[in-house]
Amino acid sequence: MEKRKMHGTWSSRWTFILAATGSAVGLGNIWKFPYITGENGGGAFVLVYLLCIAVIGIPIMMAETMLGRSGRQSPINTMRDLAVEAGTSRAWVAIGWMGVLAGLLILSFYSVIAGWALNYVFAIADGTFVNATGATVESYFETLQANKYEMIQWHSIFMLMTLAVVIGGVTKGLGNAVRILMPVLFVLLLMLLGYGMSEGNFTAGFNFLFNFKFDLLTWDGVLVALGHAFFTLSLGMGAIMAYGSYMPGDAPIGKTIITVAFLDTAVALVAGLAIFPVVFANEALEPGAGPGLLFVSLPVAFGSMSGGVVFGTLFFVLISLAAWSSAISLIEPGVAWLVESKNFSRLSANLLLGTIAWTLGLGTVLSFNDWAGEEYHILGVTFFDFVDKLTANFMLPIGGMLIAIFAGWFMKKSHVRREMSHESPEMFELWRALVRYISPTLVALVFGFLVWDMLIN
Ligand code: PFF
Repeated sequence: MEKRKMHGTWSSRWTFILAATGSAVGLGNIWKFPYITGENGGGAFVLVYLLCIAVIGIPIMMAETMLGRSGRQSPINTMRDLAVEAGTSRAWVAIGWMGVLAGLLILSFYSVIAGWALNYVFAIADGTFVNATGATVESYFETLQANKYEMIQWHSIFMLMTLAVVIGGVTKGLGNAVRILMPVLFVLLLMLLGYGMSEGNFTAGFNFLFNFKFDLLTWDGVLVALGHAFFTLSLGMGAIMAYGSYMPGDAPIGKTIITVAFLDTAVALVAGLAIFPVVFANEALEPGAGPGLLFVSLPVAFGSMSGGVVFGTLFFVLISLAAWSSAISLIEPGVAWLVESKNFSRLSANLLLGTIAWTLGLGTVLSFNDWAGEEYHILGVTFFDFVDKLTANFMLPIGGMLIAIFAGWFMKKSHVRREMSHESPEMFELWRALVRYISPTLVALVFGFLVWDMLIN
């Protein structure tokens, strides 16, 4: 009996770690982190991003998990019940609503980018990039971007893959898939890192990531780093709250969350260390290439290494799978609410939300061709950039800040302490100080400086 009980608890704590890591590790780590680092000048940006993970991301992730575990429902209903229990305004359910909306907006473009990765699986397997130069890969990528029908096709396939899993229920099979997926992905990244060290310009790549050139960093860059800390940890929109309800009551939240954040950060840094040496070794490639950075740099590496067709195919399969396990968590909060409160079946809830996200995704597809021109820009950027910035730089940090304020100031301390009973008194007080004072203030300060910067310029 004792043994079985222990095993059950152990495996559930790991189920949470695996599900949360599956959600956190995705396109954000391998695609987005390198390209925004490139656009924002490298080192100083990376440092700010790491600080945001440590002082803002981890404490808020603990808070979001704690809320999910005490509510044990969809984020919208969890927030309503917890607000009632705390004797405060029901308006806090806005955190849940904003999260559902942010999830759909993110999923809309996430699916398009994951569609590129699916396309690359077949392109690499076909030998398209064998001995390719930076310029050839670039022209392949440009042709793909110009072809909206092709992009819509892959976007649709990825969306259907996501819905299929969520219809079946998120917990089933996900744990096992992630258990195999993550280690293989990591080994392949290490292999690419080895390639970058021996064939690429590793010193230039390393220096770019870790030499802190603060003069290159703008307030806008600081905001992007902050937003990315939320995006990469799947934070501020209810995904982690929804997964928090899987967590057994007696699992230590702090240790568990630190494990997830550590794994997520490690994948991003290794991805950066694998990609930039290739970029700097190739004249045709540049760090500030934007959203295409991953898709133009890595095929060059795979094209010139022995066994590159096999490893390259496998690598893009894994990126697609990592994106898949993240996409699931983007739609789950909305699906859970429709099923819980509106009598939807999982199937109809998925069809409704999936159709909305798919349709919004067409805007991202067109951002790279028909709507690329300035006449289609929203506030000076393309539809894709607009949705990306609106969610990562505003909705997630604001959602996260509200989560911190709710957990730190409105929930009864005794209730919070009960949920966090595994934390030592020192760790608990440190965490509480962070979510009460430090994390929300820092988020507010970044917004404040941004406005100030806009006003004086
Ligand atoms: N964390 C994911 C990534 O880095 O790719 C993206 C993401 C998933 C963001 C789920 C938000 C979320 F709720």
